[in-house]
Amino acid sequence: MIVACGGIKGGVGKTTVAVHLAVLAAAAGREVLLIDGDSQGSASDFTAIRREARGGDAGYSNVQLFGASIRAEGLRLAPKYDELIIDVAGRDSAGQRAAIAIADIVILPFLPGSFDIWGLERTIDIIEEARAYNENLRTFALLNRADPSDRDNIAAINTVDAINTIEGVGGIQVLRSRLGNRKAFRSASGQGLIVTEMKPRDEKAVAEIRHLFSEIFPEIHAAVK
Ligand SMILES: Nc1ncnc2c1ncn2[C@@H]1O[C@H](COP(=O)(O)OP(=O)(O)O)[C@@H](O)[C@H]1O
Ligand SMILES: [Mg+2]
Repeated sequence: MIVACGGIKGGVGKTTVAVHLAVLAAAAGREVLLIDGDSQGSASDFTAIRREARGGDAGYSNVQLFGASIRAEGLRLAPKYDELIIDVAGRDSAGQRAAIAIADIVILPFLPGSFDIWGLERTIDIIEEARAYNENLRTFALLNRADPSDRDNIAAINTVDAINTIEGVGGIQVLRSRLGNRKAFRSASGQGLIVTEMKPRDEKAVAEIRHLFSEIFPEIHAAVK
């Protein structure tokens, strides 16, 4: 399966989600390729730190690809792996379009506070364009850095639903899982780890990421070690 963590806004959690999904899919015994589609290279940096921390093996493969090559190379590499996870750069670019063009699933993280959702309308345009030739594309919106008080969360989810309805596409499903605004997600990345691997474990963060993983990868979720 090809999963792209996309959307044209930066700082919403695309890389955080991408590396967590890559590590969990690998922990479920899958051959995983994490494609870093962002020239800032955060997913590759994460992988390098992870390799160092684990004696050379991150548990998955990692390449950096840009622009239209995400599509061409992604399609060439896909048969060699069980799962491709693409970490997309947060702007409307050839790379964003190329990733969405080949993805089975696009995950669009969004933050509480309606301001952060404005990028979504343009993202929906890109997705609609891709659906013309990628008919089976499924699109999920993920509330990230959810607020402990639910008011802003609900407002944000309603905004996504409203945009979805106004645009007439109805094709974006807000995931039931959400990730809270937790230090564990921030500090894990800097160590090349995901929250399930941190000690002491933040059990709430672990439960959230496992829930997300089960929604995206229902068939392999139970196999995660
Ligand atoms: N659920 C979360 N809780 C706390 N911090 C988070 C969470 N998700 C992401 N972050 C932090 O927010 C910043 C942006 O996240 P990142 O995944 O790099 O976003 P993007 O790839 O969309 O630019 C990073 O510092 C990251 O550690
Ligand atoms: Mg990123």
